[in-house]
Amino acid sequence: MTNVTIEVNGTTRSASVPPETTLLELLRDHFNLTGAKVGCDVGDCGACTVIVDGKPINACLMLAGQADRRSVLTIEGLATRDRLHPIQKAFEDHGSLQCGFCGPGTILSAKALLDENSNPTVQEIKDALSGNLCRCTGYTKMIEAIQAAARVLRAETAERTTREPAE
Ligand code: FES
Ligand code: FES
Repeated sequence: MTNVTIEVNGTTRSASVPPETTLLELLRDHFNLTGAKVGCDVGDCGACTVIVDGKPINACLMLAGQADRRSVLTIEGLATRDRLHPIQKAFEDHGSLQCGFCGPGTILSAKALLDENSNPTVQEIKDALSGNLCRCTGYTKMIEAIQAAARVLRAETAERTTREPAE
């Protein structure tokens, strides 16, 4: 067995799992975080996307042991109790999803992008979503939502900067 301790959505969690356990299995089967979906299970669809140390990864391709001592963000960690994350809100407002199966992975890929690049071009958004397959939507409303969320996040950052001037 392999002992794994990760910080998931800000909380330290531990488990003892067989060495072949993937991060996706650890999250879903041991921590009951089922937002990351099992799609292809071989790295093709992006439904299992989570953010590890700031980078989007396919959780089906990472062993749980490789995530030991690392920080993992899943879709469950994005909203606060009373507020959707601006990307989630924008997806809702734009009707960006249909069946929703690809949603958690796509939203986390978008978050990783906007954390690095607050004003991405359409091409940069397409590149960021290139590993997230959606069978339903055609992506246009997702791209519009990500642009809208980027505007909201930039405005929030500007407001914070005004309220908390640098010392
Ligand atoms: Fe991981 Fe498809 S389930 S990429
Ligand atoms: Fe159905 Fe994307 S909304 S797969």
